[in-house]
Amino acid sequence: MQTRTVSELLSQKIAIAEVDIKGWVRTFRANRFIALNDGSTINNIQCVVDFENTEEIILKRITTGAAVHIKGELVESLGKGQNVEIIVKNIEILGDSDPETYPIQPKKHSFEFLRENAHLRTRTSTFSAVMRLRSALSFAIHSYFNENGFYYVNTPIITGSDAEGAGEMFRVSSLDAKKPPLTKDGQIDYSQDFFGKETNLTVSGQLEAETYAMSLGKVYTFGPTFRAENSNTSRHLAEFWMIEPEVAFMDLAGNMDLAESFLKYIIKYILDNNREDLDFLNQRLLDEEKTKPQAERSEMSLIEKLNFVTENNFTRLSYTEAIGILRDSTPNKKKKFKYIIDEWGTDLQSEHERFLVEKHFKCPVILYDYPANIKAFYMRLNEDGKTVRAMDILFPGIGEIVGGAQREERLDVLKKKMAALNIPEEDLWWYLDLRKYGTAVHSGFGLGFERLVMFATGMSNIRDVIPFPRTPQNAEF
Ligand code: 4AD
Ligand code: MG
Repeated sequence: MQTRTVSELLSQKIAIAEVDIKGWVRTFRANRFIALNDGSTINNIQCVVDFENTEEIILKRITTGAAVHIKGELVESLGKGQNVEIIVKNIEILGDSDPETYPIQPKKHSFEFLRENAHLRTRTSTFSAVMRLRSALSFAIHSYFNENGFYYVNTPIITGSDAEGAGEMFRVSSLDAKKPPLTKDGQIDYSQDFFGKETNLTVSGQLEAETYAMSLGKVYTFGPTFRAENSNTSRHLAEFWMIEPEVAFMDLAGNMDLAESFLKYIIKYILDNNREDLDFLNQRLLDEEKTKPQAERSEMSLIEKLNFVTENNFTRLSYTEAIGILRDSTPNKKKKFKYIIDEWGTDLQSEHERFLVEKHFKCPVILYDYPANIKAFYMRLNEDGKTVRAMDILFPGIGEIVGGAQREERLDVLKKKMAALNIPEEDLWWYLDLRKYGTAVHSGFGLGFERLVMFATGMSNIRDVIPFPRTPQNAEF
């Protein structure tokens, strides 16, 4: 007898009577009904125990969280909410779970509490659904690129460059942290380090991905990314995953088209393939909405939001047009925003981004042509001399989900920009080589994977969409 998954049994794709199954007990009711889950689906299978013919000692050990091995018969269920159930012939307790101390009780736990038990939280319906969707989204991402002729490139995790020029890096060193060797003028002597120079964890694989785009044409990275920014928000992590496609001979307009078609494909993929988990999360959110006052309730359900993204064009507008809208929306500088933009050139705050997406356009928005001074050094300068071919994609409930640009392909312009920002040419000689030998227009973007998972699952805190969140003051695992 082959061991089956709960998912296979519930979908009844197989006509079998005898079953053999392993999983964890979610609940045990009336000394008779086990709700069993094995991670293969959001749904539990009901296993009916013949309590009169089962030893008392075994019945006592069927507790929430216990791992069990059940052999029995699959029959049509007369109970509500399920088509089939298992009549248990034999149950073996593989691993006990002390009901007095097991943290995951069969009741609603707060997400804060579950975050402290990140090693056990995927035993709940919500977190198992989120993590299955995370896995499906990751598969869909590879699938999109594979279908569209992209190569998957692995860029370095330990690197000597600061791709974003924002100085938010975690230092990596093999030197004795307590007693590092010093140079004559008292600085840490990194020439004695394993790498012979200062290194850090990558903040983006973009610059290295560019080198591959300039030979393989269409490439993407998908890897862990690190930012030592001390932002304790619901949208920032110190360790997150980023997807970064990079394409030769593609300009900013092509980049926007790529990002939009890519996002639509992956959202459609989960709508088509992961409906049970999505329906569960959809219902969870609808129940949560009911506890809010009418005015604060979301106009669309999770499923409606996902469908909306796949079916509607994203609104595209320039930074300058966006500033105009924001100015017009705050007549007499009324207190609509905490921070009022009245000068061209200031960066948008998340309240402005959310206003544009959630109140004004009610649609995903692609903002492009940002002022050069608020964007990274590698972006293509426009003919006006003051804006760059940058693009940010803003999503409802999330804000910035994608950041990207057409890259500066002209050697002289790039050198000037680096000089103005005090970026030494020696540090990026290989990056400059790309402009020296066979340079061409090229573009790419970075999608924050956890922000995508947030959008796709309706979870409101980024810490709840990554298995082990790394945030300031948190390194439990
Ligand atoms: O806008 P960012 O900083 O862009 C880059 O790193 C470019 N090199 C990407 C490229 O063009 N290849 O980051 C890209 C995305 C953001 O839009 C956001 O979704 C996500 O990465 N992100 C974060 N996600 C979680 N926690 C953080 N601290 C994040 N910082 C950025
Ligand atoms: Mg950005």
